Amino acid sequence: MHSQSPPPDALSRLRAAGEGVHLLSLAWIGVEAGIFDLIAAQPSTPEQIAAARGLDPAYAQRWAEAALAFALVEEDPAGPPWALRPSAAGELLRAGQPGLPLAVGTGLTAHLLGRLPSLMRSGDRPGEVVLGEHPAVAPFFGAMLEAGFGGMLRQAVLPAVPTYAQQLEDGGLVMDLGCGNGWFLRGLLRRFPRARGLGVDGMAANIADGAARAAAEGLAERLQLHQGDLLPLPASEPPALICLNRALHHVWDRRDELLDVIFATLAPGGAVAIWEPAWPADPRSLAAPGRRGLAWNNLAEHVQGNHLLRPEQIEGALQRAGFSTETTALPGGDVVVVGRRST
Ligand SMILES: C[S@@+](CC[C@H](N)C(=O)[O-])C[C@H]1O[C@@H](n2cnc3c(N)ncnc32)[C@H](O)[C@@H]1O
Repeated sequence: MHSQSPPPDALSRLRAAGEGVHLLSLAWIGVEAGIFDLIAAQPSTPEQIAAARGLDPAYAQRWAEAALAFALVEEDPAGPPWALRPSAAGELLRAGQPGLPLAVGTGLTAHLLGRLPSLMRSGDRPGEVVLGEHPAVAPFFGAMLEAGFGGMLRQAVLPAVPTYAQQLEDGGLVMDLGCGNGWFLRGLLRRFPRARGLGVDGMAANIADGAARAAAEGLAERLQLHQGDLLPLPASEPPALICLNRALHHVWDRRDELLDVIFATLAPGGAVAIWEPAWPADPRSLAAPGRRGLAWNNLAEHVQGNHLLRPEQIEGALQRAGFSTETTALPGGDVVVVGRRST
């Protein structure tokens, strides 16, 4: 059996994936060092990049050669030799651009790869501390999620789920539990100018990043961000809406307590909106194009002591707490499950 040579397309698939690993690794190094933003503002030689970003010149030269080979950067025709600017792909790796999450995700993957071989043997699940272990990756979490999902909020979530507008158009308080850097609340406050936001997140870096962005965007007066556990809920007026985005699966073992508290905190007519990736009933369906990333994500969640949720699990937990539920499937496989407190 094993003497047969492998089918050529299987080997080329692996080789192409290997090039992808190298490309995204170079992308992550460039993002972490702030190179793409630097050379977009001012095309620069490797020596200038090294001086501006505090890098070793020889490493900067090697990175530049590789990034040029992988077409992440290109030479500026108007500049001296080796004056580099971002290529079209490099532009997508700048702050706030949609390639950024791919690069940061690669940095996180590299960290998990260092941990997984021994965890696979020991069965240990160290928890969310793993995310904070890598000092270079942790500060990028908020920006990664904002760049990855901010556009989706505007283009897919708000048009498909009327609850956000129904609860916030006339003003009122929206709470976001596990809010990351508050990008979701900032997006809602821009859309609903009479609403106010209150976010809680356990990671200090997220709250610091979010507070700075809220101030820069002129939203600081309408947005409060607190660092801490999401329970007990922060004292406030009764919120019109409580949201959890990619956060419920982090606290799933405390779901009954959490959802009971949310039910008691919302006034009649209030709603909770839970946006989560939808784990399928049959994981074999994840072989479909565009779905494989979710399978890797659930392995990364396992390391953190979590697992992704099936929509029926979220609906069941909300119904047990007294909510009536409505679920909207989003393009790409996420869902928003809305729970309404009618009495
Ligand atoms: C996948 S991130 C999602 C962040 C944000 N909601 C978003 O959509 O970008 C999950 C967030 O939940 C936060 N989190 C997890 N457990 C928490 C807890 N017990 N209390 C407060 N925040 C928590 C983490 O710090 C992290 O920022």
